Amino acid sequence: FDAVDVIAAKRDGRELDTARIRWLVDAFTRGAVADEQMSAWAMAVLLNGMDRREIRDLTLAMIDSGERMTFTGLPKPTVDKHSTGGVGDKITLPLAPLVAAFDVAVPQLSGRGLGHTGGTLDKLESIPGWRADLAPDALRTQLADVGAAICAAGADLAPADKRLYALRDTTGTVEAIPLIASSIMSKKIAEGTAALVLDVKFGSGAFLPQRGRAEELARTMVELGGDAGVATVALLTDMSVPLGLTAGNAIEVEESVEVLAGGGPADVRELTVALAREMLTLAGRPDADVEAALDDGRAMDRWRRMIRAQGGDPEAPLPVARESHQVLADRDGVLVEQDARAVGVAAWRLGAGRARQGDPVQHGAGVRLHAKPGDPVRAGQPLATLLTDDADRIPRAVEALAGAHRIAASGSQVPERPLIAA
Ligand code: URA
Repeated sequence: FDAVDVIAAKRDGRELDTARIRWLVDAFTRGAVADEQMSAWAMAVLLNGMDRREIRDLTLAMIDSGERMTFTGLPKPTVDKHSTGGVGDKITLPLAPLVAAFDVAVPQLSGRGLGHTGGTLDKLESIPGWRADLAPDALRTQLADVGAAICAAGADLAPADKRLYALRDTTGTVEAIPLIASSIMSKKIAEGTAALVLDVKFGSGAFLPQRGRAEELARTMVELGGDAGVATVALLTDMSVPLGLTAGNAIEVEESVEVLAGGGPADVRELTVALAREMLTLAGRPDADVEAALDDGRAMDRWRRMIRAQGGDPEAPLPVARESHQVLADRDGVLVEQDARAVGVAAWRLGAGRARQGDPVQHGAGVRLHAKPGDPVRAGQPLATLLTDDADRIPRAVEALAGAHRIAASGSQVPERPLIAA
C-alpha cells in the first residue's frame, strides 16, 4: 500500500478496509510512514470520521503494535477504571485500594498529565520514595498480595498509540472520537483486564465539553470493550466544576487520604463510591459494602500497603509549595459558578502540570478551593489559594482564574448539576 493513497482515501471520505488500517499502523510503528503523513491521516479522520468496524480495526492494530499483558492465573478477578480526565480528578487514588479491599485485583496503568488535566502518576510521585515503574512480575506479585497497583504503562503497551498521541497533541487532532476511543481502549484491552469501568467526562474541564459528544465517546468505547471480550460499562459525569477542593499534586494526595479516612469532600466520596460499586458488580461482588470499607479503615489499610509496595512512605509529610497567594471574593452573595477549566489552567500555570512532555512538575503546586457552588460567600473571604514554588507564576494563574467564579445575590438559584449524569 501507499501512505498517500490511504490518506487521500480518508480525506475523500472513503471507508478504509482492514488490511489498509493494519498496514498503516504497522508501517507507522516501524517508521515507514512518516510523522507528517500520520498527522495528515489523523486530521482526515478527525474531519471525516470512521465507522464501527474501522474503529475496531484501528484499536486491534494498535494493540498488536506491542505486547498484550495477561492476568490469567491470578486467583482473583481483575477490573480497572479509566477516566477521560478532569480537574481535581484524583478518584483513582482512593478507588483502587477501596476496590482491592474486596479481594479484587485492580491493575491501574496510568499516565502523566499534559495540558490542564492532571496525571495520576504525577500526583502519586509527590509521596516520598514512591516509584511509578513496576516490572511485569512485580505488578503481578503486588496484585496477588495487595490487590491494587497504580503504575506507568510499559513502553511495550500499544507503542503505536504513544507515537500517535504525541503527534495528535501538536497537530490539533486530539478531539476525534475514533482516535480517542481507539487510543484509550487499545491500552486497556492490551493491559489484560477482564472488566473495565469508564468515567467519561463532559463540561468545561473535560476535553470533550459537549455532553452529546461525551455520550458518543462512551458508547464507542463500551462497544469496543464488548467486541474485545472486556466487560465494559461507562458513567457519564459532570466536569464543569472541579472535583473536590484541590487541583494539583500533593494537595490531591492529601484530599484522597481524607476520603480513605472516611471523610473528604462529598463529591469526591460520591464518585469514588459509585465507581467502586460498578467495578465490584463487574467483578462479581455486587453486594460489597463499599461505604463501610471507607469508614472502617479497610480501604486505608490497602492504600498504605499499596504505597509501601512501590517504595513510598505513606506517613511521610508531603511537599509544600514555597509561595502562596489568595484570591478573594469581591462581593457578598452565593457562589453559583466555579469553572473547572479555569481552575485547571491556573493549577497548570502554577507548575502542577507540564507544558511539554518530559518536563518536571512541582509537587506542591496547585489550587486549593475554599468554597463550592451553592456556598454563601462574603466580600473579602478567600475563594482559592494559589500554591507554587515560583512567585513569578502567580500573575498568570490569577489571570486564568479571572471570571472563573461567579457570585450572585444571596438567595439566587444555583444551577442543578448532578455529578453522575448517566
Ligand atoms: N487519553 C488517551 O489515552 N488518549 C486519547 O486520545 C485521549 C485521552
